[in-house]
Amino acid sequence: MTVRQVGEAIPLARPVLGEAEEQRVLEVLRSGRLSLGPLLPEFERAFAHRVGAPHASAVSSGTAGLHLALRAVGVKDGDEVITTPFSFVASANVAVYERARPVFADVDPVTFNLDPDAAAAAVTERTTALLPVHIFGYPADVAAFERLGLPIVEDACEALGAVDADGLPVGARGHPAVFAFYANKQLTTGEGGMVTTSDARLKEAIDSERNQGRAPDMDWLDHDRLGFNYRLSDLACALGLAQLEHLDEMLAGRARAAAWYRSALGGIEGLELPCEDTGRARRGWFVYVVQLPREFDRDTVVRALQERGVPSKPYFPAVHLMSYYRERFGHREGEFPVCEDVAARSIALPFFPEMTEGQVEQVADSLRDALGR
Ligand SMILES: Cc1ncc(COP(=O)(O)O)c(C=O)c1O
Repeated sequence: MTVRQVGEAIPLARPVLGEAEEQRVLEVLRSGRLSLGPLLPEFERAFAHRVGAPHASAVSSGTAGLHLALRAVGVKDGDEVITTPFSFVASANVAVYERARPVFADVDPVTFNLDPDAAAAAVTERTTALLPVHIFGYPADVAAFERLGLPIVEDACEALGAVDADGLPVGARGHPAVFAFYANKQLTTGEGGMVTTSDARLKEAIDSERNQGRAPDMDWLDHDRLGFNYRLSDLACALGLAQLEHLDEMLAGRARAAAWYRSALGGIEGLELPCEDTGRARRGWFVYVVQLPREFDRDTVVRALQERGVPSKPYFPAVHLMSYYRERFGHREGEFPVCEDVAARSIALPFFPEMTEGQVEQVADSLRDALGR
């Protein structure tokens, strides 16, 4: 198999930024109100409307949103929060911020989301919250977690545009659901995040704590609770509003690239592709992650792809096996075998809305070549 020659290297991810973004950001610059201005509530309202949630609170990152959401559902020192080890490290870190213990449970081998039975088996009298992650934009089985009767914080950082098995957009179920707007996400504000909820009091608590513990109706420099600076600037909100205007198009671009990948990679023996949507569930496409056949060394494949001009990344390493988690909580190999198997074989391929069919084919050819298939 020969590798196609291309003039331009393929990036791993690339945001779509156009005139709408420039216009909105310029307006904020000209207004002089760079933060705590009118675009903050405007972006919150537009985002809440988009996912079908009654309320939304904009924050400075997905991590900040997860942290404030956990605090808002009452997680505190000595509690346990059940979550998945197959995620970005932030979803476990936020429990540690509150001196709670992240208790991992294994994942489903098809969706790679937290397995509800494994989560149920991990519940103790100290469990105060469940933190399922909609990994790679595939909706977690939140209805099954609801049956456990504990507060839920949904990590929807990768799942904007996803629809769950009940046909509800992720973010609309009522539990706090946290989205992230880093530059590789479906919608970006550079850095940023949003918490959606059906609970007005929860929004109040989050709005206060993101602003150093000062409720919006309180006097200047009066603070009635502990808070943080987790604000999102109006410049970022301007970007977010512009991005919302063409979100459908950007999501469609990712879905189109995913469909091209499926047909281009489908024939590679032993390569496992992202699971397909079942029932009413719809993935909100974020990344394109494949599982390499077991006989291959992942790092060698990543290097071979790089030599062919194709960037890729191991995605995700298991959180419980990261050095901090091993040292702090004593985790070892073998605890969560499904997660560990998936984590050892996953690579994220280039994926972004404006990817062309030619680029997808170049990646597919390079991967076939790197695997000798
Ligand atoms: C699953 C998951 N959780 C949390 C986060 C944290 O979001 P942020 O980087 O905006 O803090 C991310 C972002 O990459 C993520 O993918």
